[in-house]
Amino acid sequence: KNYAIGVDIGGTKCSVVLGKGRIPDSGLEDFILDKICFPTEAAKGPEYTISNIIDAVYKVMQKNHVDAKNTVGIGISCGGPLDHKKGVVMNPPNLYGWNDIPIVQLMEQEFHIETLIQNDANACALAEWKFGAGKGYKNLVFLTFGTGMGAGLILDGRLYNGTNDMAGEVGHIRLEKEGPVGFGKSGSFEGFCSGGGIAQIAKAKVIEKLQIGVKPALCPELGTLDNLSAKTVALAADQGDELAQSIYKTSGFYLGMGLSIIIDILNPEIIILGSIYERSEHLLLPSVKKVIEKEALKASRDVCKIVPAKLGEQIGDYAALSVAFGK
Ligand code: BGC
Ligand code: NA
Repeated sequence: KNYAIGVDIGGTKCSVVLGKGRIPDSGLEDFILDKICFPTEAAKGPEYTISNIIDAVYKVMQKNHVDAKNTVGIGISCGGPLDHKKGVVMNPPNLYGWNDIPIVQLMEQEFHIETLIQNDANACALAEWKFGAGKGYKNLVFLTFGTGMGAGLILDGRLYNGTNDMAGEVGHIRLEKEGPVGFGKSGSFEGFCSGGGIAQIAKAKVIEKLQIGVKPALCPELGTLDNLSAKTVALAADQGDELAQSIYKTSGFYLGMGLSIIIDILNPEIIILGSIYERSEHLLLPSVKKVIEKEALKASRDVCKIVPAKLGEQIGDYAALSVAFGK
């Protein structure tokens, strides 16, 4: 079989990718053959997004003259909670209105191609393990740190799903009594360490300044509350804005707390962080290191590397394709 299809469903964007039918032994340059991206528009509900996904799969197949018989499988990477055995997306905090969606069955009925699904964090863990920063490790944790915060766990050389696929839902862990909301819970790991969470930390800090009559910001983005995002704050921080830097310090502090828990429980060799961490490691790592030094057991933290993901913007493509090759 010559082809594999990957579908990456994120809280903000989706992509459909066409890959070669087998993982190359070396060099990834022409492994991915085609790709279509579009906004998820989660607010419009699952039917809307799924019909866009189906259209995109047809488009990619037609354009490249791919037929079902020639395709290894469709791999879906999607935010959880989800049940990969049943092929059902349960109720992801970042895909509002998705409740028990039998997406695997829908895809198989439509395309007659075997379809597999994994939680996005698990899929990214597989991708970094096969293709990226995690090559050759046996105990690896991948953390998404994007729209949401989720973990993929490779333990003793295999993906660990837990009893019903809930392993690695670390975004739900409470790190503080109150705080920014993530995973529908204030003070959670996802509240402090996600795109939306950083925007909330920023908003609170900017409002605090404005209330005492201080106009924050070297960088104009920080002046308007609606413009605050992980990206604009990082931009301001890189231009030397101290308030913006303190926002990342706060997120970094809680990232250190979350990582310390993970290190103490799992004793991993390597923790790989995607998305926001990948872009802004320099703003986060100093606080992360300080916290881990204090919070995690020495013998465990001493053997654990903390690194940014290697697959960059393409991680979602490799993640979804890794799922297609699963089983
Ligand atoms: C979800 C996880 C997912 C993570 C990253 C969290 O809100 O619960 O399943 O892995 O976001 O998308
Ligand atoms: Na997971």
